[in-house]
Amino acid sequence: TVLYGVFGDPIRHSRSPIMLNRAFQEAGINGVYAAFHVKPEDLGEAVKGIRALGYRGINVTIPHKVDVMNYLDEIDEGALIVGAVNTIVNDEGKLKGFNTDGIGYVRSLKEETGIELKGKRVLVLGAGGAARGVAYALAKEGASCIYMANRTKARALELAETIGAFTQTVGLGMDELADVVDQVEFVLNTTSAGMHPHVDELPMPIHLLRSHHLVSDLIYNPRITRFLREAEAIGARIHGGLGMFIYQGAYAFEYWTGTPAPVAAMRQVVEQSLS
Ligand code: ATR
Repeated sequence: TVLYGVFGDPIRHSRSPIMLNRAFQEAGINGVYAAFHVKPEDLGEAVKGIRALGYRGINVTIPHKVDVMNYLDEIDEGALIVGAVNTIVNDEGKLKGFNTDGIGYVRSLKEETGIELKGKRVLVLGAGGAARGVAYALAKEGASCIYMANRTKARALELAETIGAFTQTVGLGMDELADVVDQVEFVLNTTSAGMHPHVDELPMPIHLLRSHHLVSDLIYNPRITRFLREAEAIGARIHGGLGMFIYQGAYAFEYWTGTPAPVAAMRQVVEQSLS
């Protein structure tokens, strides 16, 4: 039996164990995936435990994605740029860190909407850790210009500078959105506005959305945020955040096993667990 797991704090509500155990079963792989409640002060010891116990793969979630980098042997270039690791591969005792969140998001977006990002101008709302990972992946996918708007403009400017190494970027305050909305066809919320329990918050004013926009939200609790509901009501196409969770897990599965992830089965079991 090959061993896998996830480190987080809290970890109780993680859907990763049911999703990955279903994936192993569907693919005919003899693997077991467990959830570990790891406190921040125990993270270094827990990572040593991956080697000692011979775990093949570990996912890392909140609040450990940044700090875990201190304990690994090697870090993939994308994870280094984003500054966060969510997937560890154990190659005979050598631990390598990856970040599958951003690429998982882009795979979900392409599979579920068919959008071609190459040459497109996009608007990203927010400038935190989630925005960083996804903006890097959008740049690598060929987006020609990423407008980054944040409540705290200084953070948007800072992120725009980092991602500016990979494509054209513009950092904005929320009061400057009206100048850019007509130039983009894709709008993405990465802020926590609208996330349970703040379900009534909106990341930007709805009157600035257009019916030609594709509007996406990383949040999947609730499945459809107020932002997406109101965007759909004005005629925009919408895309929710559940696919990002599924595909970040699919990439982890593929890095660990070298086998294509059984995405349909993974989605089915996660959707069932949320309903
Ligand atoms: P994460 O890693 O999930 O991105 P984070 O780094 O704490 O978390 O970033 C949260 C993001 O959501 C930030 O862009 C934050 O804006 P500020 O930088 O101005 O704090 C944004 N955010 C949180 N609540 C918000 C709200 N009610 N309205 C608008 N933006 C909000």
